[in-house]
Amino acid sequence: SVEEMETRIQAVKDRLGTRLFLPAHHYQKDEVVQFADATGDSLQLARLAEQMSEAEFIVFCGVHFMAETADMLTRDDQIVVLPDMRAGCSMADMADIDQTEIAWEELTERFGEDIIPITYVNSTAAIKAFVGRHGGATVTSSNAHEIVRWALEAGERILFLPDQHLGRNTAFDLGIPLEAMAVWDPLREELVAEGDDDQVKVILWKGHCSVHEKFTVSQIQAFREREPDRRIIVHPECTFDVVQAADEAGSTSYIIDKIDASAPGTKWAVGTEMNLVNRLAATYPHLDIVSLNPFMCPCLTMNRIDLPHLLWALESLETAPVNIIRVDHETTEFSKRALERMLAR
Ligand code: 13P
Ligand code: SF4
Repeated sequence: SVEEMETRIQAVKDRLGTRLFLPAHHYQKDEVVQFADATGDSLQLARLAEQMSEAEFIVFCGVHFMAETADMLTRDDQIVVLPDMRAGCSMADMADIDQTEIAWEELTERFGEDIIPITYVNSTAAIKAFVGRHGGATVTSSNAHEIVRWALEAGERILFLPDQHLGRNTAFDLGIPLEAMAVWDPLREELVAEGDDDQVKVILWKGHCSVHEKFTVSQIQAFREREPDRRIIVHPECTFDVVQAADEAGSTSYIIDKIDASAPGTKWAVGTEMNLVNRLAATYPHLDIVSLNPFMCPCLTMNRIDLPHLLWALESLETAPVNIIRVDHETTEFSKRALERMLAR
């Protein structure tokens, strides 16, 4: 039963004490978040990993790339466990390292070597290592503006992987016109550019988040007609048109902070993952918070982490830990260059 699982999870936590650290991303289910030692967005969780020096076991409640990052930012003797190996990220899966090598060869041949690769942390460790090796950095949705600004100043062009929407939204905010952006399609191995090559400043990888792409301009228009006083706030993984039509756009932490600071009675329609929207609605009963998408938008892979998997992973720790996430040394070394360029800012 649920109660029995909760009791057993708590018992492992009590037995292990500070030997165990259990971080959870904001998109995790409530049944998991209730046991978290810390919750955060991707950037906060990456920063936390750097500080988790005490814990012997880190049971990461999030998705695979986050657990990989935690492994790379912690010591070798610390064990990072992902409670369900199927908790991947469809966006991270849209860029593999072979496709990236092919793209790089084509793009550097066409534009010259002065391209800085930037990857959203929602990418495999191999992609982060590629980026680190070529002088680039990782970004999260909370610091994308800062890092992309740096890269635009440091190089002639940037290649932004794997989320075209975060890349486009960020570059546009920094004053890059849409005509100066081109899209690399990894499946067709071709670049789709509006104008001529001289104009191109930002090359966007053709990837997206299957959760955030489901928010649409017509959902925003429907709210505008029905309830013009409802504020629309969305995550920058949403499409350019959705971000332009919304009142506010920002990372998970930005959304939480904006809602937290709003006056009683404020009405919000929120364009981000369902578990977070539901939790915000429950946490702020004096506000009126709904999802921008009437059918809600769960992240299916985040949701793979549930009570049974958490229990199974925790109970394995004292005997033979399951689902250990370990990134090899070479990949870690180069990825850390990209991560550290981000974390140092
Ligand atoms: P942030 O945590 O950076 O807002 O990213 C959202 C997300 O989709 C995580 O997978
Ligand atoms: Fe990946 Fe989107 Fe899910 Fe985040 S919300 S883990 S980007 S699929």
